[in-house]
Amino acid sequence: MRALLRDVCLLLLGLTAASSRVRLPPHDQVARVARFVAHQCDWASLATISSHKPVVGQPFSNVFSVSDGPPGFGSGVPYMYLTRMEISVQDLEVNRQASLSMSLAQTDYCHQQGLDPQSPLCAHIILSGSVLEVNSTEAEFAKKALFSRHPEMIDWPSDHNWFFVKFNITQVWVLDYFGGVKTVNPDDYYQASPNNKHK
Ligand SMILES: *[C@@H]1O[C@H](CO)[C@@H](O)[C@H](O)[C@H]1NC(C)=O
Ligand SMILES: *[C@@H]1O[C@H](CO)[C@@H](O)[C@H](O)[C@H]1NC(C)=O
Repeated sequence: MRALLRDVCLLLLGLTAASSRVRLPPHDQVARVARFVAHQCDWASLATISSHKPVVGQPFSNVFSVSDGPPGFGSGVPYMYLTRMEISVQDLEVNRQASLSMSLAQTDYCHQQGLDPQSPLCAHIILSGSVLEVNSTEAEFAKKALFSRHPEMIDWPSDHNWFFVKFNITQVWVLDYFGGVKTVNPDDYYQASPNNKHK
């Protein structure tokens, strides 16, 4: 059964490689750019407010695997697979407000275009919001989203009591061009299509 699940995941990974040729939307279609970056990135930097000495109350940034959906089926909602044993997750239990950032520097895009990660042309997004546990219905989607792109998760030790969460976005910040940061509200973000030409 596990072997079968793994084969399905590897197949989906093959599809990721095929879909990575999809083009970055035009920079003025900010919501689409944000959805594109959110779907392309397999990991993100998650900043919490630390609950740990000696930095209680200070920002604490850490790396997490994310997925907003199987390749080609991005929902815009970043899902994560967490355990309460993890230091940042302990912060979230005190204060679930957090910030998540993702950059095309994590893909081949910026390197191939000769763009430095700090260049606004190397599109990156910062999400503000909070981390919420998902119900069993949404957890089914979160599982497909994450396990298709992070097949190793299938074998993570079960005694760590892993659970699925989503990053509940309250504001999207986009750096994809000169002239400063742009914002997108969650409704426009979720309605935008990262791929097709019409939205
Ligand atoms: C589960 O959460 C989703 C997304 O928030 C919501 O649309 C759905 O109604 C919830 N389902 C149940 C059974 O509570
Ligand atoms: C989730 O985000 C929406 C905005 O998209 C916001 O209205 C809502 O209050 C947030 N929920 C929680 C529990 O933070």
